[in-house]
Amino acid sequence: MPCIFVSRDQFPSVLYEKLRQVGELRVYPYGKPAWLTAGIPKDELKRAAEECDAMVVYIGDRVDAEVLSNARVKIISTVSVGYDHIDVAEARRRGIVVTNTPEVLVDATADLAVGILLALVRRIVEGDRLVREGKAYDIWGALMGSDLRGKRAGIVGLGNLGTAIAKRLLAFGAEVVYWSRNRKPQVEFALGIKYVDLDELLATSDFVILAVSLAPETRHLMNWERFQKMKRGAYLINVARGAVVDTEALIRALKEGILAGAALDVFEVEPLPHTHELTKFPNVVLTPHIGSAAEDTRRRMAEIAAENVVRFFRGERPLYVVA
Ligand code: DGY
Repeated sequence: MPCIFVSRDQFPSVLYEKLRQVGELRVYPYGKPAWLTAGIPKDELKRAAEECDAMVVYIGDRVDAEVLSNARVKIISTVSVGYDHIDVAEARRRGIVVTNTPEVLVDATADLAVGILLALVRRIVEGDRLVREGKAYDIWGALMGSDLRGKRAGIVGLGNLGTAIAKRLLAFGAEVVYWSRNRKPQVEFALGIKYVDLDELLATSDFVILAVSLAPETRHLMNWERFQKMKRGAYLINVARGAVVDTEALIRALKEGILAGAALDVFEVEPLPHTHELTKFPNVVLTPHIGSAAEDTRRRMAEIAAENVVRFFRGERPLYVVA
């Protein structure tokens, strides 16, 4: 029976049940506190790649060229839509199949995007603190925020996630524009949203929402030059990948008042150290990469990740192949 490495023991049980139908599992006891490390040690990943036929990993597990340098593994199944933690080009070169779990997490992640946008612009986190701290507040003047109705939301990246965010924001009465590497005329037509170039999106949007995947072209897409192009007093929301934003430039934009605030579910370094400068801004909402962290969603992601491996070993095409 093939050896199947699974990088943690905390995935939904359906994943292990399904995988046991086609192989022998080697499950890494991922007991480390989440604030110490985002993924499992590199030497463990390398050993797994050398000794097992399949690997099931998560976004913190960095499967780079060194991990694959002596690999016997034939399929890497990530329990995520993103696969920037895997050196896909190297996997392809070695004939290793890489699979992911898109689609099922779109709604949950879009919900979170709108959730943190609202938390930011309606100052929900600040309000919670104010009440808990027992400070006096004026019920008319306290914590004035921004409407959504009538404001312009600029979505950067109109894949499944960007589209789902657009639908939600339209329901809130916002005007939605987007920029994407590939223009989507059907979505434009169906939703009544407008394509603009990135400079115009930045210059005119009240909320800029990042929904692009991380690739060499999108790394530090939001750099200092682009922050300077933003409408003064706009808000930035990032539910994509931390490295789409240059963190230093973001901090400067907050300090210089270009941004009225930011809501971030993803960071360049994860987990974000609690002493990080971003944690000092009251007008920044921070969540720990929980876009897909909803029970049914995570269970479906686990099921698909396992199904990809099961199909591979049965000689069928996995459901979602990225390489
Ligand atoms: C993904 O799947 O890529 C999300 O970022 C985490 O679940």
